[in-house]
Amino acid sequence: MSFLTFNGPGKFSGTVMPPGDKSVSHRALLFGSLSDGESRYENFLEGEDCLRTLEALRMMGISIDHVPGSGVITVRGNGVRGLKAPAGEIYLGNSGTSIRLLLGILAGQEFETTLSGDPSLSLRPMRRVTDPLKRMGAQIKGKDNANFAPLTIRGGNLRGIDFDNRLSSAQVKSALLFAGMYADGPTVIRETIASRDHTERFLKAAGANFTREGGLLTIGRTDNLRPFRAKIPGDISSAAFFLAGAAMVPGSEILVRDVGLNPTRTGILDVLKRMGAGIEVRVTQEVPEPLGEIRVRGARLRGTGVGRSEIPSLVDELPVLMVAMSLAEGESLVSGAEELRVKETDRIRSMVRNLKAVGASIEELPDGCFIRGVEALRGGAIDSFADHRTAMSLAIASLASNAPIVVNGTDCIATSYPDFERHFYSVFKPR
Ligand code: S3P
Repeated sequence: MSFLTFNGPGKFSGTVMPPGDKSVSHRALLFGSLSDGESRYENFLEGEDCLRTLEALRMMGISIDHVPGSGVITVRGNGVRGLKAPAGEIYLGNSGTSIRLLLGILAGQEFETTLSGDPSLSLRPMRRVTDPLKRMGAQIKGKDNANFAPLTIRGGNLRGIDFDNRLSSAQVKSALLFAGMYADGPTVIRETIASRDHTERFLKAAGANFTREGGLLTIGRTDNLRPFRAKIPGDISSAAFFLAGAAMVPGSEILVRDVGLNPTRTGILDVLKRMGAGIEVRVTQEVPEPLGEIRVRGARLRGTGVGRSEIPSLVDELPVLMVAMSLAEGESLVSGAEELRVKETDRIRSMVRNLKAVGASIEELPDGCFIRGVEALRGGAIDSFADHRTAMSLAIASLASNAPIVVNGTDCIATSYPDFERHFYSVFKPR
C-alpha cells in the first residue's frame, strides 16, 4: 500500500497556489459539452475525479483537447441535445460529482447508459438523485431501487417537478437543474440552507432558461447554451489544508493566491476567524466566480461549535477543521453533519479513529463529534480509508505532532490534489 511519512512538529511559511476547483472543473466540462461551440478553460483540475468526467464525455462523442500538465482544456460542445450513446459502460472511479451530475444530464437523453464506480462510489447513496429523476420520467435501474451503482439510465422527454433540497446537496440540486433543461414545464428547486451555487452561475452565464430568487430556483426547457472562455479559480477545499495548518500553529504565516472565494464555499474562513486565527482576504475578481487571496497567521486557537446551518459552506473542510479543533484550547462540537458519513468514506468515523490514534481527545457522535483540545499530538500510523481528504488532513495533523505521522493509503490524494506533497514541502518548516 502507498504511504507517506510526515515528520512533525512543523509550521507553514510561504505562498501556495491551490489547484483548480474540483466542482468548477466538472461543471466546466459538462457545460462546455452541452454548449453550441468551443469552450476553453485554464487551470482545469487534472485530478482523477475530473478526468473521469472528461473521459465520460469523450465516450459520448464530445471532442476535448487536453495536454496533460497544461491545465488547459478545449471542449467542442455538441449542443444541449448532441450527446451520443457511449459504446460501453462508463466507469467513474471514486467520483460522486461525476455520477450524480451525469445522471441529471442522461435523464434527458433517449439512449441507455450504464454508470459504474469503484467500491467506495458503489456504496454511496444515489436515490437522493434517482428518485426525483424518476419522478421527472427517467427510467433508472440499479440495486435497492436504484440506490447504488452500477446504474442503468434511459431518459427522454421529462416533466418538470417541484423539489425541496432538504439535504442541501449541490450534487442533487445540480443533477435536477441539468434534467430541468430537458423537461416540459418548469422544475422548481427550493433550498433553505444554501449549498454551493456553481451550477447556477454557469446556467446564468450560458443563457439558460433559469431564474433564482433567494433559495427558489426555477429552470425551464433550454435549447441553447453559450460556450465559455474562463480561468477556473483555485480550490478553497484544497487550500483548506494550508489554511487550517497555518492557522493552528503559532508562528506560521501563509499566503494562498488565486483561490475561489465563492461565499457558498468560504465557511472555513468564518470558523478559523472565530477560533482566533489572523485571516485577511483580498478579492481580486467578482465574476463569474469571486477570486482572490487569503493571508493566514497562526495562533493557539480556541474551540468552537459548527452546526447544521453552516455545514454546506464547509462540508469538505470538516476533516481538516477537526484537526484544528483537536489542537484548540477548550471544547469544540461539530453537529448536524451526518452527510459526512456518506462521502468518499464515513468521514466522521475515519477522522475520529485516526485522530484518536495520534493522540487527540475526540468522541464520535451520530451527526458529528465532540473534541477536547490538546496541546500536541503524539504521532503514529493511520489509515486513509482510501479517502483523499482524510489522508491530507492527517498530514496536516503532523504539524502539531511530537513524532511522525505515517499516512497509509496515499494514492487517493490524486483524486483532488495530485501536487499536495510537493506543495506541502514547499511551505513546511521543521520546528
Ligand atoms: C460537490 C458537492 C458536495 C461536495 C462534493 C462536491 C459538488 O457534495 O461534498 O465534494 O461539486 O457539487 P454534496 O452536494 O452531495 O453535499
